[in-house]
Amino acid sequence: EAQALTTHDIFRASTLNQVLQRNKLIVGMEVEYFPFEYADEKGQPIGFDVDMARLIAKELGVELEIKDIEWTGLIPSLQSGKVDLVISGMTRTLARARAVSFTDPYFVTGLCALLSVKRASDVNRVDQLNAPGRVLAVKTGTTGDLVASKRFPKATINRFKDETACVREVVTGRADAFFYDQISIAKHHKQNPNSTIALLKPFTYEPFAIAIRKGDADFLQWLNLFLETIKADGRYDEIFQKHLGD
Ligand code: ARG
Repeated sequence: EAQALTTHDIFRASTLNQVLQRNKLIVGMEVEYFPFEYADEKGQPIGFDVDMARLIAKELGVELEIKDIEWTGLIPSLQSGKVDLVISGMTRTLARARAVSFTDPYFVTGLCALLSVKRASDVNRVDQLNAPGRVLAVKTGTTGDLVASKRFPKATINRFKDETACVREVVTGRADAFFYDQISIAKHHKQNPNSTIALLKPFTYEPFAIAIRKGDADFLQWLNLFLETIKADGRYDEIFQKHLGD
């Protein structure tokens, strides 16, 4: 006969309890994604997600450790227990939600296109890029990659590990376009005003959420209540203004 789990058993199994016992929250992110997580002049991670992680640790009264992990390693690190949560501008998608659990969204954006002046100055709608001879640069495993593969089957898709490599492809005219979240595309166009064009109308829905190990309902409800609380008490607005306000 199956024994009912007590509240005590459930709390013991929760990551929330492990964090409190260990006195430290271990957060995974890939530190190359302005303004959510990027390195300052000293190489220290800063950004909106970094401040969110700080608020979580502070609220729990524990130390914070940030692990800088490459994009495709984030979900595996969560699954293997190397990190307690991932906050990395990660879009919650149905495919990823098979592997991890996501909180409510804390930010919503969409994919946009950075176009090459050399190759794609004729493009004014992203659909035009779904054609033979068009080349798309995407960052491996991001939603830009997943969407390119699904919705742009006629184009050639070239995958790169780094965001900067994708931008270089567009700037030098080796690719027609790079698909990434709106703020990144706007930034890269600003930095390369003569060699790029930005199509800044989002063509996907990208809700960012915190990822945790699947099935940890206790930690999930705590994090959702945390998000609700900081939105209500001004802490969310404060870090939003700091990193995303204009
Ligand atoms: N939102 C996109 C995705 O989920 C890109 C996020 C990239 N984040 C990062 N820290 N590199 O695929």
